[in-house]
Amino acid sequence: MRRRLIAGNWKMNGSRESLAELDGIAAAAGAAPGVDVAICPPFTLIERAAARTPTLPIGAQDCHSAPKGAHTGCVSAGMLAEAGARLVIVGHSERRAAQGETDAQVKAKAEAAIAAGLTAIVCVGETEEQREAGEAEAVVSAQLRGSVPVAGGDVLVVAYEPVWAIGTGRIPSLEDVRVMHLEVRAVLSDLLGADRAEAVRILYGGSMNAANAADLLAVPNVDGGLIGGASLTAAAFVPIIEAAA
Ligand code: G3H
Repeated sequence: MRRRLIAGNWKMNGSRESLAELDGIAAAAGAAPGVDVAICPPFTLIERAAARTPTLPIGAQDCHSAPKGAHTGCVSAGMLAEAGARLVIVGHSERRAAQGETDAQVKAKAEAAIAAGLTAIVCVGETEEQREAGEAEAVVSAQLRGSVPVAGGDVLVVAYEPVWAIGTGRIPSLEDVRVMHLEVRAVLSDLLGADRAEAVRILYGGSMNAANAADLLAVPNVDGGLIGGASLTAAAFVPIIEAAA
């Protein structure tokens, strides 16, 4: 039985002042013991966030695949763990698009994260053009085959995020979500074997909010959410935690 995971991705938002939001989020997480809750703030806030709410897992939004070395501006998974992070998002579509990250790079980052003791959230998702061309499942399947580390199990999380749903207020039909999450599970089973694939949580991401969370979370193989805008305040995020409880 997979535990639901409700993870917030603050992206490049937030300040020390914003960490006050974590108090209400941690309280809601404490009141929902059957749900895993996490927040991924910018790198600069990880250590303070982890210290402020020790019961609330804190994550990062990227890591380098190497443990150390001449990689100016980058942060290794081990450094994140030392700062108090317990998970890390890799291969978010914003990084695949803006930083040109490839499936192979995403896979190497996920492997480095797991080796450092972190949970890796590997993101996949099609663009609107790809969906309109009927290529959504093929695109996501190929991303999975290139990006998923062999470890599998509960240290691996996959986030299906249709690019066109991120920050737009639009979501796919629940039937499209069902079909895609079933496809993700099937590809994971092919890659990892049925047992290890069953333990992988598959999150939906893209304009999830208080109004649509219960419907999305009721779809088979939707094991939680990766939430951007609606994770920035406790007022917006707590109802999503409650919907998952
Ligand atoms: O990582 C989070 C996703 O990109 C979703 O963002 O909830 O603001 O649409 P959003």
